[in-house]
Amino acid sequence: ASMASTPVRNKSFSTVNSDDIIYFKKILGEKGVVEEEEKLDDANTDWLRKYKGSSKLMLQPRSTQEVSQILHYCNSRCLAVVPQGGNTGLVGGSIPVFDEVIINLRSMNNILSFDKVSGILVCEAGCILENLISFLDNEGFIMPLDLGAKGSCQIGGNVSTNAGGLRLIRYGSLHGSVLGLEAVLANGTVLDMLGTLRKDNTGYDLKHLFIGSEGSLGIVTKVSILTPPKLSSVNLAFLACKDYTSCQKLLSAAKTKLGEILSAFEFLDINAMDLVLKHLDGLRDPLPSSKHNFYILIETTGSTESHDKEKLEAFLLQSIESGLLTDGVLAQDINQASAFWRIREGIPEALMKAGAVYKYDLSLPPEKMYDLVEEMRGCLGAEANVVAYGHLGDGNLHLNISTRQYDDSILTKIEPFVYEWTSKHRGSISAEHGLGLMKANKIHYSKSLETVQLMADIKKLLDPNGILNPYKVLPTSVLPQRGE
Ligand code: FAD
Ligand code: MLT
Ligand code: ZN
Repeated sequence: ASMASTPVRNKSFSTVNSDDIIYFKKILGEKGVVEEEEKLDDANTDWLRKYKGSSKLMLQPRSTQEVSQILHYCNSRCLAVVPQGGNTGLVGGSIPVFDEVIINLRSMNNILSFDKVSGILVCEAGCILENLISFLDNEGFIMPLDLGAKGSCQIGGNVSTNAGGLRLIRYGSLHGSVLGLEAVLANGTVLDMLGTLRKDNTGYDLKHLFIGSEGSLGIVTKVSILTPPKLSSVNLAFLACKDYTSCQKLLSAAKTKLGEILSAFEFLDINAMDLVLKHLDGLRDPLPSSKHNFYILIETTGSTESHDKEKLEAFLLQSIESGLLTDGVLAQDINQASAFWRIREGIPEALMKAGAVYKYDLSLPPEKMYDLVEEMRGCLGAEANVVAYGHLGDGNLHLNISTRQYDDSILTKIEPFVYEWTSKHRGSISAEHGLGLMKANKIHYSKSLETVQLMADIKKLLDPNGILNPYKVLPTSVLPQRGE
């Protein structure tokens, strides 16, 4: 009931037969070919438990060569495929819509090299983000991205979604930190773009096509990424504001007063705070003396503890005196810091526990952002809990509408309203999660006709049979059927 327009299966795709299985077992071995119902059930279901495919086959290649052989074969047989990483995507992009073959990268999880001087890490696409974070920690470095799904998501999935996360305000997007990658095209061609150079202006920078294209143009098999050094002084403040205007002013002030040490600026509203405290175990309100309308997490990262503390404390004091802040607390140690982060990072999980959730991931002008939340509350009244949080420092609102169960009458009150509102303010209907299945047909709210047409032309050039992640990212209407 949650999906207004479900696509129809493209008839030009074949169905997996026993000869296909024999071939895949020959190249991947028994272990690389998964047909067990339980494993397939997990791989067919997305993190939100909102979308469900019916694939009978998951392949787990161990090398680029194997990915290439798989794709070459699938392309010649016209078998559709879904590239899959940690399956933490939030737009239904990582699971099959029908019987597409799942190609999961989990067995390609080797770190290939790390240069301690430049901080450049080269690894396979199936490395789990948290494992990379731990590996780098031992080397005195950090990943330029961090997100709540780190324990399951893979770097290949992060690159393919151009994941943003909690540190983007400081280290920028993956379009900046990914220095190179290797990708396999639909016909099995391996594209070696695995450069490790900071500067390389030789022709079109094609790696960018694969960053954020959600598995629709190729399978990312290796990544080279620039990692920042781990700095010794990290501080985290959990703060409260009385209204949204104060949050915004606090952001401007943080940018000018904290400058180069600012490394995160996240917000959650009272609805998000109440939800996490209610549904997640072992969390305590860091500011228990009273309730606040808005909460902000500010993290600083720098190289000199005394300097950073002085700066941060002066900033906080000023903000309290000027009335921007109504309350706040600094994490006293690493445990307290992770407890504060757990509140922010735990919101998606708390929303899942609360029932059904309609998720919107929007880029909006910060001064307009919260108007939408309030308008939405006005529209829905007591029917739903409208929860807002996100990467305020990046102009990225996560607008979540939590209800007991999915209900089309609620959906019609939300869509197309949210998309039209976003489009009217020249925002993006997908700031960081991608379009996947959920928003493939909504791309025009954020992109012009000409732009979408060029995307379709590129898709056709790289994947003429359309076998890579069909029904996702682009509207089916702009893509030719086979033979057209
Ligand atoms: P999957 O979910 O498996 O796949 C995502 C998409 O990428 C699919 O379209 C898939 O086909 C494609 N894909 C995966 N691997 C490859 C590959 N090797 N080659 C080509 N295509 C591939 N996102 C953010 O941007 N910021 C956040 O802060 C954030 N926080 C999250 C918190 C939670 C608790 C959860 C559940 C999700 C969050 N996400 C966030 C969403 C999600 O995009 C990221 O978790 C992550 O980038 C997805 O990686 P994955 O390995 O799980 O990819
Ligand atoms: C987050 O910032 O928590 C993630 O993008 C997940 C979500 O939007 O729920
Ligand atoms: Zn996010």
